[in-house]
Amino acid sequence: MYKLAFIGGSIDSIAGYPHLIASQMDKNFEVIAGTFSTNPSVNEETAKKWKINRYYDDYKTLIEFEKNNIDAVVILTPTPLHSEMIIDLLHANIPIICEKPLVSSLQDVEKIEKVYDASKHFLVVTNNYSGYPMLRELRHKISTGELGEILNIRLKMPQESFLRPPKSVKYPQKWRLKDEFIPMISLDLGSHLHHLAYFLLHEEPASVMAHYSKFSKYDVVDDVNMLLKYESGISGNLWLSKTALGNRNGLHVEVYGRNASASWHQETPEQLEFAYNTGQKTIIDRGSDIDMPSNTLYNRMTPGHPAGFIESFANIYNDIAIALDKFHMDKPYLNKYIYGLTHAHLGLKLLHTATKANKSGTFIKIKK
Ligand SMILES: NC(=O)c1ccc[n+]([C@@H]2O[C@H](COP(=O)([O-])OP(=O)(O)OC[C@H]3O[C@@H](n4cnc5c(N)ncnc54)[C@H](O)[C@@H]3O)[C@@H](O)[C@H]2O)c1
Repeated sequence: MYKLAFIGGSIDSIAGYPHLIASQMDKNFEVIAGTFSTNPSVNEETAKKWKINRYYDDYKTLIEFEKNNIDAVVILTPTPLHSEMIIDLLHANIPIICEKPLVSSLQDVEKIEKVYDASKHFLVVTNNYSGYPMLRELRHKISTGELGEILNIRLKMPQESFLRPPKSVKYPQKWRLKDEFIPMISLDLGSHLHHLAYFLLHEEPASVMAHYSKFSKYDVVDDVNMLLKYESGISGNLWLSKTALGNRNGLHVEVYGRNASASWHQETPEQLEFAYNTGQKTIIDRGSDIDMPSNTLYNRMTPGHPAGFIESFANIYNDIAIALDKFHMDKPYLNKYIYGLTHAHLGLKLLHTATKANKSGTFIKIKK
């Protein structure tokens, strides 16, 4: 198992916990160290909560003490801080897994390119959305020509977060309210759409036209429209917004080909819709006869158990852990989410009586 250290990603952050779970889910990685927050008490609290014994005050100390113990570092800090950390990690020859976007500016990328040596360094970016099986299937279908010549791609990621911030996190963080040459919204959301367009088309746009707006009280760009032209003739359209009420994270991908079009919404990630030039429309999911090479990861649970099934299971395990804590303190351990013997007994009474009723052909009272 590869051993990881986190820089950033505390329990107070947005990105940290998903990385903690996702990296460890299939037992390829184990998070063994970190410097999770610049706030010492949050740093310590995170390490305790996640049962990670080795935590440090700053990332330079982490590199010094852990460089021979870890296989990679995951960078989960605010985007403007990535560049300096990446360069230090490259100098220390430590493999890097970095949250998107890699850095904030062209200048920062150029600085990294001066240090990065492909023959000895490992540097990858977690562009998470292309992990969805149905987007991978769409890429496969585009590459095999099922949609015909591609005419148009439209990607949008409208959010409402600057008019109606999510209640579950402190948002927007200070660092998100400062625009440099590339506005933060483009770094935050545009990086995802750029990635997905390339992931699907294997082609970079050749030219772009853009219109930026500031609609919220924060005096930063919060709505971006881009028109793209591709050398192959494809026309593209990207919309990113943090002021689009009604959209929590409205990631939507549409690809229009001469023979068929496809549409995918992140909020219904199991479904990929096609409309053909015959007029026929179809929806496929993981349970359909899909073309993509099979991969057990796309079926951690069988089709019909959509994304979220495993998280729901994890909630049950959390409740069981709370119940076990109470059990060890000699307290009543069953709670409103956790059921035990009595509940199971009542279920069996129902099922047992149903068999009797089936035989008798009559209603039978279920014994209390
Ligand atoms: N892929 C996605 O869907 C997704 C979602 C959210 C954020 N992100 C990316 O993740 C990164 C972090 O975003 P976030 O929303 O979690 O930010 P955040 O502000 O919520 O959290 C950042 C964390 O880094 C810590 N930190 C800051 N400086 C540090 C330092 N020098 N050393 C150690 N820790 C430090 C902060 O204390 C905080 O815990 C950004 O690059 C962002 O673009 C990606």
